[in-house]
Amino acid sequence: MTLLITNIKELLQVREHNVTIVKGDDMKVLPVLKNAYVLIEHDTIVEYGSMDDFDDIEADEIIDATGKIVLPTWCDSHTHIVYAGDRTQEFVDRINGLSYEDIANRGGGILNSAEKLQNTSEDDLYEQAANRLTQVIKSGTGAIEIKSGYGLTVEAELKMLRVIKRLKKEFPIKVKSTLLAAHAIPKDYKDNKKGFIDLVVNEMIPAVANEHLAEYIDVFCEKGYFDLEDTERVLKAAKEHHLIPKIHVNQFNAFGGVALGVKYNALSVDHLEELNPEDVSVLKDTTTIPVALPSCSYFLSIPYTPGRTIIDAGLPLALASDYNPGSTPSGNMNFVVSTACIKMKLTPEEAINAATINGAYAMGVSNIYGSICRGKKANLILTKDIPNYYYIPYAFGDDLIDKVIINGEIF
Ligand code: NIG
Ligand code: FE
Repeated sequence: MTLLITNIKELLQVREHNVTIVKGDDMKVLPVLKNAYVLIEHDTIVEYGSMDDFDDIEADEIIDATGKIVLPTWCDSHTHIVYAGDRTQEFVDRINGLSYEDIANRGGGILNSAEKLQNTSEDDLYEQAANRLTQVIKSGTGAIEIKSGYGLTVEAELKMLRVIKRLKKEFPIKVKSTLLAAHAIPKDYKDNKKGFIDLVVNEMIPAVANEHLAEYIDVFCEKGYFDLEDTERVLKAAKEHHLIPKIHVNQFNAFGGVALGVKYNALSVDHLEELNPEDVSVLKDTTTIPVALPSCSYFLSIPYTPGRTIIDAGLPLALASDYNPGSTPSGNMNFVVSTACIKMKLTPEEAINAATINGAYAMGVSNIYGSICRGKKANLILTKDIPNYYYIPYAFGDDLIDKVIINGEIF
């Protein structure tokens, strides 16, 4: 099966060599080929080029993309899409003046989602998550990381991770799974946080590793949740089971979580709404990528991650959605890219790099996803007729997508 896309107005993120991350000033460059074509064989990009050099290539199916833009699908490296129900009441409570912290302190927040999830069957949970995944693929996501973390018991965490495993099997996009073992202190351990960490270290992590249900380990390293000592215990135990850290740090408070992540060779450190100069310097010359989640900042009305500071320091930056019921009930990466430009002052080039190739890096798949490169997976967004790629972040909230192609097939 071959698919040929011709007359593409702008083909974005074209990489002759398989670049797997872009950092600092290099993020300002988004390679674009105007008036281009792409040839796909089965699920792989095999050729691309300028229409000027186009020699009648034969293909089983041809799409004329006149007036349209083609780019790699978004790589969303941080989501929590397996959850039960919603938290609409907390949304209204916040409008009426409560903070995210107030809600958590009275037993809402993550504990609210955990209670709902514990009382939801695996099949029901799968159906809810599958609907969300279908929706985000339609909005252009072609690789995704999904976390557990609303179980908070060994049994319920395993249930979540089995749902993720099923999503991996049933959906054509790349899915990576993360054990978010320490997301909140469960009610039963309210005054015994150490006991909960013991459970995570001695039972949860080994059980998950035993069933090969996760590749990554995550901890919500935050005041009122898990401190540096707790986080380190979890990361140490996870390391013995070859789970790589991707951690929640600096969402509300900065107290050394970034350095701890770097110490344990975290693939990514995510959130960073609060960022110290030390956090920036400790990330230099490491393999750990900072990840910003601007739609979370938008929804909670908290500061935006200082993306300019990060990029201007020569570091890489990835953008992800954080899709979850409490702080970001949206997985729309187009909105993430727009918000990064509008609120974090990333240029369109930086934001698109951050949401494609660097997003792929932040979930360990940038050798196969995140750019238009010969030999890479044919996961592409074909836009509607739009003036140029600036229009993607500019027309925020608009649905600019004509087709999403996953593994060489229209989704
Ligand atoms: O990334 N910060 C921790 N976890 C999620 C929110 C969890 C929730 O409120 O359900 C986040 O924002
Ligand atoms: Fe998150």
